Amino acid sequence: MKNLFDLTGRKALVTGASGGIGKGYAYALASAGADVAILCRNADAGEKVAAELKETFGVDSFFQSCDVSVESSVDAAVAAVVERFGKLDIGVNNAGIGILGGDADYSLDDWNKVIGVNLTGMWLCARAEGRVFIKQGTGGKIINTASMSARISNCNVSYNASKAAVVEMTRMLAAEWGAFNINVNSISPSYLLSPMHASTPLEIRQKIRELTPLGHVERPEDLYGPVIFLASDASNYVTGHDLLVDGGHTLNAWMAPLGRAVPPRVSPEEESKQLKKDLAMLGVPCDENGINFDLHPEIAGAYRAMLDN
Ligand SMILES: NC(=O)c1ccc[n+]([C@@H]2O[C@H](COP(=O)([O-])OP(=O)(O)OC[C@H]3O[C@@H](n4cnc5c(N)ncnc54)[C@H](O)[C@@H]3O)[C@@H](O)[C@H]2O)c1
Repeated sequence: MKNLFDLTGRKALVTGASGGIGKGYAYALASAGADVAILCRNADAGEKVAAELKETFGVDSFFQSCDVSVESSVDAAVAAVVERFGKLDIGVNNAGIGILGGDADYSLDDWNKVIGVNLTGMWLCARAEGRVFIKQGTGGKIINTASMSARISNCNVSYNASKAAVVEMTRMLAAEWGAFNINVNSISPSYLLSPMHASTPLEIRQKIRELTPLGHVERPEDLYGPVIFLASDASNYVTGHDLLVDGGHTLNAWMAPLGRAVPPRVSPEEESKQLKKDLAMLGVPCDENGINFDLHPEIAGAYRAMLDN
């Protein structure tokens, strides 16, 4: 039987792929043989990732400038990928932002920014990819990055609402585009120590770990299998699905109050070592504990306030 997970010759794009989860997705797809376009705003970082993929996996890869919140930028970027690769098979829409803040005094400006990138941006990308797949007559795979925040109320109104909307947008597009052999699915990570979370203090990381049945904080490689699965022939009959990849974290609503401790599967020292390795892979400078407090001081500040109370 052929290898259902083989992506050799497939042409993919990943948005927000200069670092974080998007870079992990790009690595995973390239490791399975796909040629991968790196769509992001930072040319230096994007070109560096493309060069790494070419050297490590021998695939084709290039940086393409794209601001996902701007319609003309998205349409031009997707057209440029098709021009360069000759076709498109896989669109991974991953770029996202979170702007912290209390819900009562949250500004409309911040709300619009978050919705503009996380929801409108993801829809613009999916629309551009869907149009290409329909025109090509080939079908295709669209994979959106949602979040466990679509299911649990853990961040704030703009972020959680945007991610819940991504899940429903995914389902609606799947229903609409099944007729064109287009699979539309989403992946929902939990807390992954990407740049978005590199400012999370050790004490909070420990709490996350204690509330995660699989016993460690989520790592970039925990998303490799899920993204390859949804990009490959192995998932040809899967559509409209939100693949939650959280180590069981969201199962835990009852575990903590009932005193059901989760035995950590790795020691805090091993965890720190792994986190430093993960952040190095993601291109994030960090201290000896795998923390970069400067990157998102507001995240560190919010968690510190939580710890103090
Ligand atoms: N880190 C987590 O714990 C976590 C958990 C669940 C979901 N997510 C989601 O995963 C995705 C990736 O996040 P991450 O954790 O890697 O964070 P990140 O900040 O490292 O990555 C986000 C990427 O999106 C890019 N981006 C932001 N606005 C953009 C725009 N307008 N146009 C183009 N690119 C833009 C950023 O430059 C960055 O490369 C996001 O959608 C995020 O919401 C993250």
